[in-house]
Amino acid sequence: IFARSAARALSTPSSSRLFSASAAAHTKVAVLGAGGGIGQPLSLLLKNDPLVTSLSLYDIRGAPGVAADVSHVDTASEVKGYAADQLDQALEGVKVVVIPAGVPRKPGMTRDDLFNTNASIVRDLAAAVGRVAPDAHILVISNPVNSTVPIVAATLEKAGAFDPKRLFGITTLDVVRAARFLSGIVEATPNETPVTVVGGHSGATIVPLLSQSPHGKAVKGEKYEKLVHRIQFGGDEVVQAKDGAGSATLSMAYAGAKFTNSLLRGLNGEKGVITPTFVKSPLFADQGIDFFSSNVELGPNGVEKIHPIGELTAEEEKLLAACLPELKKNIEKGKAFVA
Ligand code: NAI
Repeated sequence: IFARSAARALSTPSSSRLFSASAAAHTKVAVLGAGGGIGQPLSLLLKNDPLVTSLSLYDIRGAPGVAADVSHVDTASEVKGYAADQLDQALEGVKVVVIPAGVPRKPGMTRDDLFNTNASIVRDLAAAVGRVAPDAHILVISNPVNSTVPIVAATLEKAGAFDPKRLFGITTLDVVRAARFLSGIVEATPNETPVTVVGGHSGATIVPLLSQSPHGKAVKGEKYEKLVHRIQFGGDEVVQAKDGAGSATLSMAYAGAKFTNSLLRGLNGEKGVITPTFVKSPLFADQGIDFFSSNVELGPNGVEKIHPIGELTAEEEKLLAACLPELKKNIEKGKAFVA
């Protein structure tokens, strides 16, 4: 089964499954927050990615145990776990750093409610990356992404180690949800219903561009309103169902591993790897919004090309108008924290 699916992975386009491998490469990936609800399954999925040759698992608690466990999986990569006082060692020689460290939401909380706790966690981890692995690509999962990405940028800027081509807020779960939810409405498989999602990663800042999807543009009226709302607030369904035990972890780990694989394929020189991600972006910079998620082509340097958002319908213009002021506030809050 595995041999067959590996062969398929090498021969079919990437959007239809989690991993594909186009070239052999030596890539060390670190997970900071590897002991958590996202970190554990994310580490497992990355162990299963043929493009990851070495995995470095760090957390303030539990990472050596997760590493010992994951290291028994019979794929080629090496796995090592690091304890709370070994952050610098964990970052040595890494090419990609994925950050799911920090507290998740409980029912009734917005992502912004996590700011006070997560801002300093993310800032301190970013400072360590800037010091030990200044050439690494940084993938931020910790919420609120709209603010934590600007925090990482400002922290690295202070350290003289900021390269906008190498910093990504992971919005892939919104893209995964959009494809999944749309597929359920139009009776197609999710790999036939990809949706470009732009803006940011929280409530009204999540802007699905359904009109740009052949299946999505057929959804109208109340069905459309409900679908948009579900894409924007799908995370709440998980928070409520988990009833105080946290937010999305398994689907987020899937999304995080999927984005990491896309980046690795781009770094290896594969052409045409395009996916939405929250990056330093010129698209709305003239309105004081210098981070934005839109389709980004990934390449050997990380961000290769930031695509414009394209034509919008009147409904999508409205969604964008609601997104921009909130996103601007979130970004400014992150910047102010570091300043
Ligand atoms: P969790 O509480 O299960 O795990 C967080 C882990 O971070 C814990 O193991 C904790 O020990 C660790 N940690 C805390 N401070 C640390 C530090 N300074 N260095 C290293 N590790 C540290 O939380 P979960 O569910 O894994 O969520 C993590 C974050 O991901 C949350 O902020 C959550 O809101 C966010 N998230 C983001 C999503 C996205 O789409 N970008 C989707 C779902 C969650």
